[in-house]
Amino acid sequence: MTAITEFVSYEAEGDVGVITVDSPPVNALSFGVRAGIKGGIEAADADSSVSSVVLVCAGRTFIAGADITEFGKPPKAPSLHEVIAAMEACSKPVVAAIHGTALGGGLETALGCHYRVASPTAKVGLPEVKLGILPGAGGTQRLPRVVGVPMALEMITSGNPIGASKALEVGLVSEIIDGDLKEGAKAFARKVVADGLPLVKISDQNDKLKEARENPGMFADFRKSIARKTRNFEAPENCIKAIEAAVELPFPDGLKRERELFMELMQGEQSFSQRYFFFAERQAAKIPDVPKDTPLIDIKTAGIIGAGTMGGGIAMNFLQAGIPVIIVETTQEALDNGIAIIKKNYAATVSKGRMSQDAMDKCLSLLTGTTNLEDIKDVDIVIEAVFENMDVKKEIFTKLDAICKDGAILATNTSTLDINEIGAVTKRPEYVIGLHFFSPANVMKLLEEVRTDKTSKSVMATCMALAKRIGKVPAMVGVCDGFVGNRILHRRAEQATQLILEGALPQDVDRVLYDFGLPMGPFAMADLAGNDVSWRIRQGKGQKSPIADAICELGRFGQKTGAGYYLYKDGSRTPTPDPVVEDIILKASKDAGIERREISDEEILKRCIYPMINEGAKILEEGIATRASDIDVIWVYGYGWPIYRGGPMRYADYIGLDNVVKTLREYQEQYGDYWKPAPLLERLASEGKTFQDA
Ligand code: 3HC
Repeated sequence: MTAITEFVSYEAEGDVGVITVDSPPVNALSFGVRAGIKGGIEAADADSSVSSVVLVCAGRTFIAGADITEFGKPPKAPSLHEVIAAMEACSKPVVAAIHGTALGGGLETALGCHYRVASPTAKVGLPEVKLGILPGAGGTQRLPRVVGVPMALEMITSGNPIGASKALEVGLVSEIIDGDLKEGAKAFARKVVADGLPLVKISDQNDKLKEARENPGMFADFRKSIARKTRNFEAPENCIKAIEAAVELPFPDGLKRERELFMELMQGEQSFSQRYFFFAERQAAKIPDVPKDTPLIDIKTAGIIGAGTMGGGIAMNFLQAGIPVIIVETTQEALDNGIAIIKKNYAATVSKGRMSQDAMDKCLSLLTGTTNLEDIKDVDIVIEAVFENMDVKKEIFTKLDAICKDGAILATNTSTLDINEIGAVTKRPEYVIGLHFFSPANVMKLLEEVRTDKTSKSVMATCMALAKRIGKVPAMVGVCDGFVGNRILHRRAEQATQLILEGALPQDVDRVLYDFGLPMGPFAMADLAGNDVSWRIRQGKGQKSPIADAICELGRFGQKTGAGYYLYKDGSRTPTPDPVVEDIILKASKDAGIERREISDEEILKRCIYPMINEGAKILEEGIATRASDIDVIWVYGYGWPIYRGGPMRYADYIGLDNVVKTLREYQEQYGDYWKPAPLLERLASEGKTFQDA
């Protein structure tokens, strides 16, 4: 075996030259990998003992893409283009042997080979769009030449991979190898030689482009079909333009156009933020004071207290991960209702074709309901999801402590209450943790995990691993009112209310935040969640909010009652501004002695977003969040903050912390100390630093 570089080796195995990439963890195309593959191809070409070549990867996956850590650094030859060109030009058939995931530059490398074979569990895709870029090494030119334009448009603009059997069906791979992948690939390569099959250069193939050449309207239709999903994103449009170039231009010109469109995105803020977020998400899974090798508690079964909207949604996550769930309610009726809703949700997913009937049946077979708390005595983890009341939660945790086996984790889904206080009623506070799911809990990806002063490292490590198992993205935070997500949300809500008192209307505030990229503004969101919930909480605390209270007093609880801050005519989900609400707002302003004024969109945006940033800085300073990027993960996955703006903290870095501080100070002078910049923010700004340096 010859080492070509540190990460790539070449060996003649009989009459097949085998190039092996071994660059953990995911064989990304760093300089050493690129140079190694190119060198391997040159070695195979020159090796008279071999008549074909196999490219295979060691470890858990085929090449998972370009090395994202190299982005933004000066390019180092050979480029991936040069590597792929060398493979295409090789005088002997080159076969890619794919296992794990061939993603991005990894699939582009495979598309540079003359043939591809894959293991049955392999996945292939071009996920660059998720990083705010496009496949920049010929993917937009080669993929449509293999699978046709409609499928290439779908794969490249969604970034979603396809499985091996689909790849075989559409001709992206030639064979699925059931046994040893390398041996199977070698046998396939020998067959290519024996049968005198051609050295297929995808760049020469034009047949699959014909359909689009004859139907230019295809692109306009496709643009329309993804417009809502890709609102404000720059990358999908450039992906489409690059595929258009594949159809309209000769291959070399198409490649050039792809490059231009790629560079345009690479230099933009959106891709910077999306790449930042890729690493932010992976960082968030790590807790600095919890070592990687912390022993985990084996979670085989779960108990969920409460079969309401949250409890039911949480249960679905566990069922889908194959973990049996016992769900507990106080009455048979509530239990039956809760289980019926779970079944209805699954049935809807099946009818949309997103789940098979078999998978649904399997999930439901893992679900048991009970009204007897004792039935959960043997589960490994309990998640309490009853309504937000400290006394009720304390009573439940006292009982759980008595009933549950030693070593069981006791978690609460509270979104505001002090979990130290909840843990203190048990004899095992080290096993108590917050697992704050976001509604709808079977859909939203965020799991805000809350450690108390006593939560053990093993419980934390277990819950982080569990999150991944049930398809969630976790971030660990500390105890405070509202934790990270809702504490920041409250700052925005306060300003939204203040803005409509001073002169804006709900539709103004909502439009500005929607245009900024959020899925909806605060008033549309309140109507969706139900205004009665916060009304009851205010009543419980003896608090008042003149506009919100007046709206609730009219029974306008939001979408579910057909009216809230907006009207929802005939069951529509589209908010329509309502003069009745405007009257309520005008009266509230008058009662408060406020002379209403015109408020600019810029002021609305800053007044809503800057207090969030300031609160984020306080949260960081208090150590409630470990990193600024954890706050961003929480806001992107829990509240729909646009990923192309990275998260509120990354957005602040983008604007410049000195600019944020300057505006906060101006507001402080105008409106008082609510706006005082957080000390951490002031310090970073004065040192010319960013939150990422904090
Ligand atoms: N470059 C650099 N590092 C990468 C990487 C990449 N392309 N892909 C993954 N990593 C790193 C991760 O940061 C992580 O590092 P850490 O352990 O220090 O946190 C480690 O590899 C393992 O990654 P995951 O935790 O994500 O492992 P999983 O097993 O859950 O997932 C994966 C594996 C599906 C390959 C996932 O990592 C992934 O989706 N990677 C990115 C794939 C991608 O986007 N490829 C396209 C890159 S852009 C490109 O190719 C441009 C080209 O067109 C020119």
